[in-house]
Amino acid sequence: MKAFIIGIAGGVGLRLARLLTADGDHVDGLYRRSEQGELLEAHGIHATRGDLTRTGAPTLAALLRGTDVLVFAAGAGGEGGTNAITAIDGHGLSTAIEAARLADVRRLLLVSVFPEAWRDREVSDTFEHYVETKKRADAELAATALDWVILRPAALTDDPGTGRISLAPALVHTQVTRDDVAATLAELVHTPRLSREILELTEGSTLIADGVQQWIRG
Ligand SMILES: NC(=O)c1ccc[n+]([C@@H]2O[C@H](COP(=O)([O-])OP(=O)(O)OC[C@H]3O[C@@H](n4cnc5c(N)ncnc54)[C@H](OP(=O)(O)O)[C@@H]3O)[C@@H](O)[C@H]2O)c1
Repeated sequence: MKAFIIGIAGGVGLRLARLLTADGDHVDGLYRRSEQGELLEAHGIHATRGDLTRTGAPTLAALLRGTDVLVFAAGAGGEGGTNAITAIDGHGLSTAIEAARLADVRRLLLVSVFPEAWRDREVSDTFEHYVETKKRADAELAATALDWVILRPAALTDDPGTGRISLAPALVHTQVTRDDVAATLAELVHTPRLSREILELTEGSTLIADGVQQWIRG
C-alpha cells in the first residue's frame, strides 16, 4: 500500500506516517520546513518538501503517481489568520482533489473538524472562518466521484493514545488524542471497503479496528 500524506510533519500526519511505516506501507508526503525533513528521515520516512499553496495540481499529481491512498492532514493551525485557512484548508483541498484526479488516485481521506465545535464557547471570527472553510471542503470532496472518507475529530490532545474511540456519523463534541486519530486513519487506509462516509471521532470505549469495521456497508 502506498500512502501520501499532505501535512506529513504535523501532529497527526507524523503519527500516521510512523504507524504506516511500521506496518510496512510505503509512505510519502508533503512537508514545509527542512528540519521536518530531517525528523522524517530519522524515522525512516522519505517525503517531499513543498508548500501546498505554491504547488499546482499537476506538480502534486506527479508526486502522487502510484499512490493508493491520499491523506489530507494539513491545516493552517492558528497561524496566518483567515487567508491561510482559506489557502490551505480550503484551496489546498481543491488542489489535492484535482491532483488525485490527474494522477488517477481514487481514495482520499480528509481530516476535517466537527462543524459545531465549541458551540458552547465564545469563539473568534477566525475560528468561525476555519469551521466554515472546513465544512465547504467537506462538501467539495463529498461531491466528487472519489472514494473518500471524511473524518471529523473532536478537540485534539497530545495525551497518549488509548486505542479506543467513538466513531459515528454524529457524536457530541468532546476530545480525542492525536495518537488515536492517527491510528483510526491507519485503520481507514487499510479498510478500502469503508468508503464515502462522514464520521465523527471522539474518545470512547470501542477498539479502533471495531469502530472502523462497524461502518463498512454492504
Ligand atoms: N487542533 C484541533 O483541536 C483540531 C480538531 C479537529 C480537527 N483538526 C484538524 O486536524 C488536522 C491535523 O491537525 P494537527 O494537530 O496535526 O495540525 P498540525 O500539527 O498543525 O499539522 C498540520 C500540518 O499542515 C502543514 N501545513 C500547513 N500549511 C501547509 C502548506 N501550505 N503546505 C504544506 N503543509 C502545510 C503544517 O506545516 P508546518 O508544520 O510547517 O506548519 C503542519 O505540519 C488539521 O487539518 C486540523 O484542522 C484539528
